[in-house]
Amino acid sequence: MRYLLLLSLSLAALAHDANGRTSAPLESRRILNPLKPNEQRLFNASAVFTRLCSQCHGEDGKSKTKQAATLPTRPTDLTNYLMKQMKDGEIFWIVTNGVVGKMPAFSPQLTEEQRWELVFWVRELRTRQLYKERIQLGTYKWKLPPGFPYPNVPSTNLMTAAKVELGRHLFYDRRLSLNQTQSCATCHQQARAFTDGKPRGVGSTGQHHPRGSMSLVNVAYNTVLTWANPNIRKLEEQALAPLFGDHPVELGLTGKEDLLLSRLQADPCYKSLFPAAFPEEANPFTIANLTRAIASFERTLLSGDSPYDAYRRGDDPDAISPAAKRGETLFFSERLECFHCHGGFNFTGTLDYLGKGIAEAEFHNNGLSLDAGLFEFTRLEEDKGRFKAPTLRNIALTAPYMHDGRIKTLDAAIDHYRAGGDPANPNRSEFIKPFKLTTAEKADLLAFLESLTDPSIATNPQWSDPWPPRRSRMTPSPAPARYRE
Ligand code: HEC
Ligand code: HEC
Ligand code: HEC
Repeated sequence: MRYLLLLSLSLAALAHDANGRTSAPLESRRILNPLKPNEQRLFNASAVFTRLCSQCHGEDGKSKTKQAATLPTRPTDLTNYLMKQMKDGEIFWIVTNGVVGKMPAFSPQLTEEQRWELVFWVRELRTRQLYKERIQLGTYKWKLPPGFPYPNVPSTNLMTAAKVELGRHLFYDRRLSLNQTQSCATCHQQARAFTDGKPRGVGSTGQHHPRGSMSLVNVAYNTVLTWANPNIRKLEEQALAPLFGDHPVELGLTGKEDLLLSRLQADPCYKSLFPAAFPEEANPFTIANLTRAIASFERTLLSGDSPYDAYRRGDDPDAISPAAKRGETLFFSERLECFHCHGGFNFTGTLDYLGKGIAEAEFHNNGLSLDAGLFEFTRLEEDKGRFKAPTLRNIALTAPYMHDGRIKTLDAAIDHYRAGGDPANPNRSEFIKPFKLTTAEKADLLAFLESLTDPSIATNPQWSDPWPPRRSRMTPSPAPARYRE
């Protein structure tokens, strides 16, 4: 249930933390802090916090103390982004009443005033953490969807607006393929939530990729990249694969690094964009900088504005249909089990974000087949057919489905799960087993999956092709008609 709870923060006021739930009653959300914060109050509260709370929650509120490690329930990380969802009244209630079996009640030893002051301090811990996080992220002004945490950004590639702008130009530039027919955007199209509508990728020389293109929306939060490779963890590294990989050829630039860089250097637009993005470097035209810029652009592809989000945040109780609401219940049910693998705020496996700590990658066999998958990298028999569970956000835009596009519609994808996958596949996950689903229930589940589409993706001007039309369609050496967009 924890994924459902994660999403139902503001509506039900049940949860605020990735590992637990608050026991503060709903009414407590309405109790307002009668005090005004000032330095004296913060000072008082910080001293009380050190004395009574820090052994479990740590001085910094991150709850990584020796004592915390010995408790049956991990104390809540008071700096976690989910704390934002907790109202003052709930924090006051918890400090007053404690949590049975987990945290003592403090009403016996603290006055009401002291308890309200502590609420200020708990807030302050989060503010301080945010400040630290922003410094770690660079100067770029993020537009985080409500309730989303900051993604992790490598310290060697802090985010700036200039890098993002350069990355966007590169992402849409066909000079990034040897024969100048393809850019990243050929296989990752904005209108399709950055997929390409093909079952499997087709590279610039016509070679077929064994797997299909993947959505890049919210890719900044993925612990590992691509369908089944446990080793690619950074977008900077991943970008090298399509550029220089030759099994299969995608953009086909292996050994042609200098040619690529001289092409870019000759462009008047890049003459200003590269130095602006990497102002400290005498020669900013390097492959490392190119991948840094593309990765920076990819990290801005954040979306959490589907009708389902509006409904869950409580902005609009009618943002999704009654059918979609019933479909939600099915999705999160133990009968269908979908949420075990497509969970959390991005409807996928474990996510990585700033302040998260270790984020283990997850791979599952969803009953399709014994295609290599993770096996390719681990050579363990049980890893045959294990793949990353992709995000189900915008799933209505990203057909065909699965790593090789073998399933054409969402309707057929549901049929696959209803049948419990391929019975001849011995590696099926324990969560993949046949279930009953009426026609009406199937329609409900579909309505729910469709409510996960953010309609603004296709039109968001910040993610669109920045080149004037003539330039972006430039195809000096025409590809065979069937590979043309
Ligand atoms: C003995 C260890 C311990 C001490 C001391 C302690 N806490 Fe907690 N605290 C916890 C645990 C465990 C949880 C997680 C409860 C849960 O998951 O339901 C928690 C949760 C919280 C929460 C989140 C609310 C929730 O429902 O999870 C807040 C806010 C909080 N503590 C504040 C404080 C403050 C302020 C103090 C000092 C006055 C304090 N705690 C002292 C163990 C402790
Ligand atoms: C020929 C089509 C094609 C081109 C061109 C292409 N990609 Fe991809 N992309 C794919 C395919 C296919 C996958 C899945 C690869 C796999 O699983 O091995 C993928 C996966 C990805 C992923 C992993 C997403 C995730 O959720 O794990 C990222 C990131 C990505 N591509 C970025 C790029 C960038 C950046 C470029 C340009 C430098 C690019 N791609 C060019 C087809 C393409
Ligand atoms: C055991 C984990 C697991 C469970 C349970 C699960 N899935 Fe999946 N799902 C996956 C994996 C792994 C993939 C990718 C498999 C592949 O391509 O080989 C996937 C792929 C999908 C896709 C295609 C995504 C894309 O971008 O191509 C859809 C749609 C989907 N699942 C929906 C559901 C629904 C609906 C349920 C519940 C009925 C469900 N899943 C249950 C693991 C799971």
